[in-house]
Amino acid sequence: MITIIEPFRIKAVEPILMTTRAEREEFIKEANYNLFKLDSEKVIIDFLTDSGTSSMSARQWGSIMQGDESYAGSPSYYRFKNAVANLMPFKHIIPTHQGRAAEKILFSVIGGKGKFIPNNTHFDTTRANIEYTGAVGVDLVIEEGKNPALEHPFKGNINLERLEAFINEKGVENIPVVMLTVTNNSGGGQPVAMENIRATKEICKKYNIPLFIDACRFAENAYFIKTREQGYANVTIENIVKEMFSYADGCTMSAKKDALVNIGGWLALNSDVWAQQARNLLILTEGFPTYGGLAGRDLEAIATGLEEVVSEDYLHYRIVSTQYLGNHLLKAGIPIVRPTGGHAIYIDARAMLPHIKPLQYPGQSLAIEMYLHAGIRACEIGTVMFGLQPDGTEKEAAMDLVRLAIPRRVYTQSHIDYVIEALTEINANKNKLKGVKITWQPEQLRHFTANFDFID
Ligand code: F0G
Repeated sequence: MITIIEPFRIKAVEPILMTTRAEREEFIKEANYNLFKLDSEKVIIDFLTDSGTSSMSARQWGSIMQGDESYAGSPSYYRFKNAVANLMPFKHIIPTHQGRAAEKILFSVIGGKGKFIPNNTHFDTTRANIEYTGAVGVDLVIEEGKNPALEHPFKGNINLERLEAFINEKGVENIPVVMLTVTNNSGGGQPVAMENIRATKEICKKYNIPLFIDACRFAENAYFIKTREQGYANVTIENIVKEMFSYADGCTMSAKKDALVNIGGWLALNSDVWAQQARNLLILTEGFPTYGGLAGRDLEAIATGLEEVVSEDYLHYRIVSTQYLGNHLLKAGIPIVRPTGGHAIYIDARAMLPHIKPLQYPGQSLAIEMYLHAGIRACEIGTVMFGLQPDGTEKEAAMDLVRLAIPRRVYTQSHIDYVIEALTEINANKNKLKGVKITWQPEQLRHFTANFDFID
């Protein structure tokens, strides 16, 4: 059999409001052509993010009912801690309300002026939390990782020569940790090879610098290792995950991705000194160390989610269904970041819409048309998101992408077929798409709240 089916049945459903183009024209106008300002009920297929949007399983809902809400020492904490430690055997496991809270605490402890944190590519919140402390986040992804059309099995790899040169240039004492983001979200959801993790650790060991993993999509990364890296075809996902983390000294995690829950995260690490400082900060902003900003029931749902996410049947379906979308878009002549990553498809809107200049936001134009044409919500990752300079001027971003992030276990193949059909139709009439202008914007993070309009 070659048909890949969803390896689950559906027990509870949420209705989707089916709207017409005329209705959507009103809705998006009211939202000033900003997809973030649209009510989610007015969206047919929501690809804004894969974060916190997973469907939970019947087993996870059962776990929710077993949550123990004791302030301290809850059994739910121990179930959570054991489930995390089973895959990521770090000495200290500190729950947080989501990934960025773990980042905020970690960098408050280890960051500060004069410090540099290298990574393959920092996610926005990671970079922001580093920079908030006065430290500098540095992206050292391999060159192949910056070329959207190029095929390479592990475009999320860090450039090892540049990493070592960077450590020598800035000085070991100024680099508190080296990070690797698996998969590399800001670089197209591309995986990092085990060989690259191992070699990064070798460099870290040589200079006595801890290695931390941004673990959000660890299971998807492990599946890519199993299917693309020599020597792993017969290793279980669980053992691949354990090997990945055996090279690390800590991790930050957003449970909203590969723990298959709607909220949660953690900071895990081996250093007793850093853990002590982190727990002190945790109490200030998150909560007591055995719940850290989560309810007992959330900890239970994470524990069960971690058992489910390493299932090979689940991961096979997850990665192959993302590829299915990507391959059909390529077949329709739509340029995407290649090869397809784990959690999302990234359309190269600059290549698709060459008649719209970067400063007229081709990504935003395409995202608006996807909504108007079929009620699909996606996210511009390009000049709208990155173009505004600190001095108030504008510069085109390195790429103008539109990310179609696929929630886990939420949409069926017919939803995906609908998206493929919609994008094929949009592509056939792409010359009619117009550039976009910003009519109002805030000083920072403008993509969330800016107002747009079409350029006549
Ligand atoms: N690291 C990576 C690689 C991420 O993708 C995210 C979130 C975070 C950290 C922060 O985690 O949201 O739980 O605080 N990414 C989401 C996205 C928001 O849409 O890609 P968080």
